[in-house]
Amino acid sequence: MKTMSRELLHNAYERSERYLAEVDNQRVFPSNSDLMAMNRFEEPFPEKGHDPNDILKQLDEVGSPATVASTGSRYFGFVVGGSLPVTVGANWMATAWDQVASSAVTSPVADKIEKVTSGWLLEVLDLPRESVVGYVTGATMATFTALAAARHKILKKKGWNVEEDGLFGAPEIKVIVSDEVHVTVLKALSMLGLGKSRVIEVPTDANGALDIRKVPVLDDSTIVCTQAGNVNSGAFDPIGEICNRAQAANAWVHVDGAFGLWARSASSKAYLAEGIEKADSWTADGHKWLNTPYDGGIVICRDEDALYGAMSVSAAYLKEKSGASQSYIPEFSKRARGIDVWAALKFLGRDGLDDLITSRCDLAQHFAKGLEAMGLNVLNHVVLNQIVVSWDSAEKTGALIKAVQEDGTCWFGPTVWKGHNAFRLSVSSWKITQRDIDLSLKAIENAMKEIQTQK
Ligand SMILES: Cc1ncc(COP(=O)(O)O)c(C=O)c1O
Repeated sequence: MKTMSRELLHNAYERSERYLAEVDNQRVFPSNSDLMAMNRFEEPFPEKGHDPNDILKQLDEVGSPATVASTGSRYFGFVVGGSLPVTVGANWMATAWDQVASSAVTSPVADKIEKVTSGWLLEVLDLPRESVVGYVTGATMATFTALAAARHKILKKKGWNVEEDGLFGAPEIKVIVSDEVHVTVLKALSMLGLGKSRVIEVPTDANGALDIRKVPVLDDSTIVCTQAGNVNSGAFDPIGEICNRAQAANAWVHVDGAFGLWARSASSKAYLAEGIEKADSWTADGHKWLNTPYDGGIVICRDEDALYGAMSVSAAYLKEKSGASQSYIPEFSKRARGIDVWAALKFLGRDGLDDLITSRCDLAQHFAKGLEAMGLNVLNHVVLNQIVVSWDSAEKTGALIKAVQEDGTCWFGPTVWKGHNAFRLSVSSWKITQRDIDLSLKAIENAMKEIQTQK
C-alpha cells in the first residue's frame, strides 16, 4: 500500500493554498453546472485502490467548485465564521499529529494545550475560574453536555442517580426556555430524555429577549435555558437578573452563547452580557465568531463534580477525578479540538479578539444602514452582528433572497421573525470588509431593481 509522501502533502498544500487564494473570486454558492459535475463522485466501489494524487486531484477539481464559499468574505448565512489562517495551519499540524486527545496518557501535548486554553477562555470571557471546559463538536453538543450536568446535579440532590438508573420513575425536572429558544437546545433536551415539548415557554420582547416579568417561580428542580445572542436578532436575555432569582431558589441556569458569549471579550459589547458569570453553565462555539475551522464547540461548567458525574465512565464519586478530557465530554476518542481555539486566542490576544468582535458589529451597523437607505426594513434592533430584513411583502422578500442567491456575489438565507418572512444576515467572518458589504449592497440593489422591472 502506498504511504503518504512529501509530494502528496505538497500537492494537498498547493491545492488548499490556491483554493483559499481564490475563494473570494468564486460564486458564494456553487453554480448548477458545478453541482451537476459532482455526479463524477458517483463511481462504483473501486475494486483496486487509486493513486493518492489522483484522489486529491478529483477532490479539488470536482469538489472545490462545489463548495459553499463560507470561508470567503461575502457569506452572511446562518451564523458562520471563516477560519483565521493561523487556525488552518494549527489544524493541519494537529491532523498530522493525529492525537487521541482524550487524556494526558493518549496525548500529553493535546492535554496540556487544552488545559492552558481553558484557563485563557475563563479569563477572557471572565467566567468563574473554578469552571471546567470541554471541547466538543459544536454548540449543540456543548448544550447537551451542560444540561446533562444540570440533570445530574438536580436529581442527585433528590437522591436519584440518573446515570445508573435512568429517568423512568425519576423526580420531575422543570425546564424553562424562551419562545425564541434555539432549536438545538430543544434537540439537546430531547436527547437527554427531558422532552422538547415538556418545557415551559416564556414570551420574549420585540427584540427576542426573554421577558423577565413572565418567568415562573423557580425552585431547586428547575433548569432555566437562557440565550446570549438570539440567532436572528443577536438579543441577550436578562441573564444576570435570572441568575439572581435562580441562586435564591437553587435552580440551574444555562447560557446558550453559541456566538454571543464572545461579546464578553469586547469592551464595547460586554455590557450586553453582564451578569452572565453568575450562571452555572455556558455554551460557546469556536467555529462561529472565533473563526476556527469546523468543527469546534466549547462547554463550560462551574460545577466540576456535576459535569464529571454526568460524563465520566468511571464510577462517579468513587474514583479520584482524573482531569482527563474524556471525563467531561460525551466523546471518548476525539481530535485535539482545543488546539484550534488555542491558536486563535494566541494569534488574536485580548486586543485582537476585542477588535474582531467590535469590528464585525460595526460592519453590521453599516450593512443595516445601507439596507434601510435602499428601502428595505430592518426588523431588529441591531445590537450585535445579526440583522433581520424584509421587503414590502413576503413574496417580494422571497424573490429577493432567490435573486441574490442566484447572482452569487453574496449569500444569505430566509428566516421568520416574529411572524414575518424575512432574511437574516450574520457578520461573523474575520474576512468581511466594508468593501464586501458595499459589493453585497450593490448586488441586493440590482436584484431589487430587476424584480421591480419584472412586475
Ligand atoms: C444561539 C445558537 N445556539 C446554538 C446553535 C447551534 O450551533 P452548532 O451548529 O454549533 O451546534 C446556533 C447556531 O447557529 C446558535 O446560533
